[in-house]
Amino acid sequence: MFILLMGPPGAGKGTQAAKLVENFKIPHISTGDMFRAAVKEGTALGKQAKACMDGGQLVPDSVTIGIVKERLAKDDCKTGFILDGFPRTIAQAEALDRTLTELIIKLDRVINITAPGSELVGRMTGRRICKSCGATYHVTFNAPQAIGVCDKCSGELYQRDDDREETVTHRLAVYQTQTQPLIEYYQDKGLYTEINGLQPIDDVLQDIVNSLRGGQ
Ligand code: AP5
Ligand code: ZN
Repeated sequence: MFILLMGPPGAGKGTQAAKLVENFKIPHISTGDMFRAAVKEGTALGKQAKACMDGGQLVPDSVTIGIVKERLAKDDCKTGFILDGFPRTIAQAEALDRTLTELIIKLDRVINITAPGSELVGRMTGRRICKSCGATYHVTFNAPQAIGVCDKCSGELYQRDDDREETVTHRLAVYQTQTQPLIEYYQDKGLYTEINGLQPIDDVLQDIVNSLRGGQ
């Protein structure tokens, strides 16, 4: 199954991708996670990405397209993947089309998880992530059993630098101008499904799974 997971920042893409990976046994490819890993390693890519991410801006298309192209060519992507947070611009979508044609891969579905801006701000500012295993929590909606400690591995939880309120507002504006046009792009290809992200996490998952199994 070849799936694109779209949605504004904070809609729940990462949360749902983690669950879909268990269901479908396919790799989760998140450009945001790839950039955060590069920042942690202190590579040249990480330094460039950090400047963009901290300002709530997109990393340049040429850089992003290059790392995704390289990742999709790996063997574990031959039978499926969940692509999360890419494409985010029309230029990225067109580059993805070319790459998939080269790899003889056809997308099965483009899932867009939606939620209003007011909800998204609260989700991002309340998000906490495990330093060790990367699991995502929310201080109110998906709280760990002990404050600041990961349920899965007892790792320390932290707040992403780009989850501060002023950056969050800017990320939402960038989404509207640069990423929203992709909705029409994938509607025109007949691949697009919208999922109501305002529901509880497990209900969102159920809707996504129903859509993938039903092919719409
Ligand atoms: P990225 O990491 O992709 O961030 P994003 O798209 O802004 O999405 P988020 O990770 O913020 O949110 P999410 O939808 O995954 O929500 P989550 O599941 O965590 O990108 C970060 C940056 O990297 C970009 O700003 C850009 O600079 C760069 N970048 C990445 N890709 C790029 C690209 N293609 N091109 C250029 N630059 C790129 O959930 C959010 C919170 O809500 C959590 O706390 C969660 O517990 C909670 N939650 C989830 N679902 C629910 C629910 N149903 N009800 C209540 N709470 C919920
Ligand atoms: Zn953990």
